[in-house]
Amino acid sequence: MFRTLALATALLVPSLATAQDAPGDIAAARRAQMSAMQLLAYHAADEGAGTDETTFYRLTEEATAIAAILAGLPALFPDGSGPADLPEGATQAAPAVWEDRDGFLAALGTAREAAEAAAFAADPAAFMAAMDDLDAACSACHAEYLAYDPFAALPGGN
Ligand code: HEC
Repeated sequence: MFRTLALATALLVPSLATAQDAPGDIAAARRAQMSAMQLLAYHAADEGAGTDETTFYRLTEEATAIAAILAGLPALFPDGSGPADLPEGATQAAPAVWEDRDGFLAALGTAREAAEAAAFAADPAAFMAAMDDLDAACSACHAEYLAYDPFAALPGGN
């Protein structure tokens, strides 16, 4: 259910191919990027990197994609795109993203390091350990910088 919703969110963002000037567009873009990471992370959790060699390599490539998304996220949280600047419901980001910029960027960096460790993992066990670190980094940031927890409603969510 959540998977279908997340995919729909990613596909329905209308203007990713054009300029992202309006703060509302920027919020929609970062939310779609978050949903894309969610879908990619699900693959690792569902399939497990130890299934076979082809799966292992594909999952490491998907971790590379997550790392690339994380690298681009600071630009999608510019000044003037927080909850006080947008209509109700346009963003779930907490004011802390802008009030504690250093902490937010550090949390992004921690997640990116975990994704890169997964991308360059030498074997399935190292990959899954790095993905556990990534999962913890996603949740740690959400606990501090999100007005709600997007994983809370999921089965087994934290
Ligand atoms: C450094 C902080 C940070 C990290 C790391 C982070 N997120 Fe997020 N995430 C946010 C914020 C802030 C929002 C709210 C964005 C908004 O609504 O404008 C969000 C929103 C989301 C959403 C809801 C998207 C929507 O459509 O509203 C999902 C799903 C999500 N994140 C998944 C992930 C996953 C998976 C990871 C790890 C691979 C991750 N996030 C890492 C801060 C983070």
